[in-house]
Amino acid sequence: MSATHSLPDLPYAYDALEPYISRQIMELHHKKHHQTYVNALNAAEQAYAKASTPKERIALQSALKFNGGGHINHSLFWKNLAPAKSEGKGNGGVLADGPLKNAIVSAFGSFENFQQQFTTATLGIQGSGWGWLGVDPKTHRVEVATTANQDPLLNLVPLVGVDIWEHAFYLQYLNVKADYLKAIWQVINWEEAEKRFAEATGSAKL
Ligand SMILES: [Fe+2]
Repeated sequence: MSATHSLPDLPYAYDALEPYISRQIMELHHKKHHQTYVNALNAAEQAYAKASTPKERIALQSALKFNGGGHINHSLFWKNLAPAKSEGKGNGGVLADGPLKNAIVSAFGSFENFQQQFTTATLGIQGSGWGWLGVDPKTHRVEVATTANQDPLLNLVPLVGVDIWEHAFYLQYLNVKADYLKAIWQVINWEEAEKRFAEATGSAKL
């Protein structure tokens, strides 16, 4: 049977996010962790297609949710990171003036307030999960949100997602999640977030 889902290429080299995220983390995270979600999602979908009773289909729900979410979230995550401007490697970490910055300042008072709220919410996740900046597609208001495990963000359109699973930081930051969350601002791809914001709010059509 052919595999429906496949591992997307990283849009930069494995060492491109150094010194903020090490090559070792990026290689393992992409080639091993994300690949495992892809493989398990394909297996679960194939099993679901062959299932013939409600009970068999119900038994596959958690595998579909966990591995499907893992694939969705990591596919977003790679794109919402970029080599750091502060290292002269790219535009990571730079939020230019524009609609998204205006929306962030409008919702949080300042970019610094947003960062603080995002960090506090994400640090507060018990166990594994994701911290998000998302936009409500109806009100166009940006919000901080968190999801547990590999649950995808469903009620908002995700603009920036940060993986707070230990596999995302432990080899470099050990138990100090706060240092990882401080460093990651240097490699956030705000151009990608701006693009998603424009698509979600319809401003891309103007
Ligand atoms: Fe991850």
